[in-house]
Amino acid sequence: MNILVFDQAGQLAGALARRVIEAILARPDLVLGLPTGRTPQLLYAELGTLTCETRTDWSAVRTFNLDEFVGLDGRDPESYRQYMERQLFAGVRVTPHHVGFLDGKASDLEEECDRYERAIASAGGIDLMILGIGVNGHIGFNEPAPGLQARTHRVALCPETRAANAALFDGDLSRVPTEGLSMGMATILRSRTIVLLATGEEKAAAMTAMLEGPITTAVPASFLQLHPDVTLMLDRGARTSPR
Ligand code: PGA
Repeated sequence: MNILVFDQAGQLAGALARRVIEAILARPDLVLGLPTGRTPQLLYAELGTLTCETRTDWSAVRTFNLDEFVGLDGRDPESYRQYMERQLFAGVRVTPHHVGFLDGKASDLEEECDRYERAIASAGGIDLMILGIGVNGHIGFNEPAPGLQARTHRVALCPETRAANAALFDGDLSRVPTEGLSMGMATILRSRTIVLLATGEEKAAAMTAMLEGPITTAVPASFLQLHPDVTLMLDRGARTSPR
């Protein structure tokens, strides 16, 4: 894996935003995989600014978000869909039907997961997948477990993941859904290029486990070791010494 360490999270966000804009300029119909969470917020703000400055056209870009809560409608303010509207889509003009999202309120959630796999495949697969990482080593909602499901699937959320999301629900843990829909690790690993972002000391242990530990379902991020084109973009807090 390539490892890039930045002094400040803002520098990291700026560097990745430039890389994304360059990728769109080189390939206007780029297919992006996108995360939610606190970590990518600076990146999304930076993308809004750079898009404006460079007049980059996002109209042919397609996006697929990693995950969504079960039970929330894409119009719910707490949904990841609405997070993306606020954080990114308000600042860059992605054509609405080019935005790929899991529907946590679909009547048949298994069919919804299958639909998502088909949608990613018919877009030609994901060119650039941007990931965050949970303190427990999760990727998307692929939580540590005795076994992982390869494809997009329904999953029970770990207590620490629900706690990390409470801020979206006015800090009220009881309102955080207990289940999510998520791309599987195989879905993610089929992406051509992967960039993982991690900032802050609270991510350092997960980075060590991912880089230095065995490939194990107890650390879903460790499966990224199998991919030929992964770049880790870290700030000093999350930095760890690779083997
Ligand atoms: P965070 O979430 O960016 O809010 O830390 C990352 C994740 O859980 O994947």
